[in-house]
Amino acid sequence: EEIKVFCPATIANVSCGFDVLGLALDSVGDQMTVRKTSENGIRITKITGQDLPLATEKNVAGVAGTALLEKSDYQGGFEIEIDKRIKPGSGIGSSAASSAGAVWAMNELLNRPFSDLELVEFAMQGEKMASDVAHADNVAPAIFGGFTLVRSYEPLDIVSIPTPSELYATVIHPQIEIKTSDSRKILKTTISMQQGIQQWGNLGGLIAGLFKNDYDLIGRSLHDHIVEPIRSILIPAFDEIKTNALKSGALGSGISGSGPSIFALSRGEKIARHVADSMTDTYQKIGVDFDIHISKIN
Ligand code: HSE
Repeated sequence: EEIKVFCPATIANVSCGFDVLGLALDSVGDQMTVRKTSENGIRITKITGQDLPLATEKNVAGVAGTALLEKSDYQGGFEIEIDKRIKPGSGIGSSAASSAGAVWAMNELLNRPFSDLELVEFAMQGEKMASDVAHADNVAPAIFGGFTLVRSYEPLDIVSIPTPSELYATVIHPQIEIKTSDSRKILKTTISMQQGIQQWGNLGGLIAGLFKNDYDLIGRSLHDHIVEPIRSILIPAFDEIKTNALKSGALGSGISGSGPSIFALSRGEKIARHVADSMTDTYQKIGVDFDIHISKIN
């Protein structure tokens, strides 16, 4: 018995929702094949596309899968093959895609003994290994799809948020690698009351905009005065990319996850393409190598 799954890339934080908000991309992700074996435990048999460890305890898919097996009464095991298309350290949830994909596929093969919320908890173990912190803002949308809000970590409470039908994401990845663990170390651990007020106003506004299909409100809410000013220093021409994306009609733009990828949200595919052109031009002019993707958000 085997299953092939698409493991979506994800944009965490989405400007105003550091560690709590994320969204899944429809057309960017890894492919994974998972099959049942009679032997107990997880074996990663093959990884193509990237040079990553096959050892179960060193691979996020192995770690997340092991967390699931520990809670399951299934006596057998699983073999996993990963076709890795999301580059590690790109800021679009590479480790989350593998962690979430593995546990989602295993749950299907076991006839779904676990809820999506439990799958997020298992996948968070992969995130913990990858970034030192068991954040759920990439694995939750990878498992639930669309936009998700981590309303609380303890106890874990995930809320699925609806997506307006014309919402598209453009994501550009300058070819440098930033480890989430490193880009967390440079953050301050406290914020001022004034920053808090701005941030929860925007987060509430973004969620309301998604529920109301109010693209203008979504755009007005896509700001981050806490993390972006610090992390953007690590990203080539961040301000220029963002300014040009907004000039090209994007609703808003910011750092994807812990970077270096930069995202923009747009109403309609045409504007998302226009935004992609402006981002492409900006990096071509200054000679930065990049990948770029456009994806509908579902
Ligand atoms: N919320 C996490 C961070 C996401 O920004 O560090 C990492 O992908």
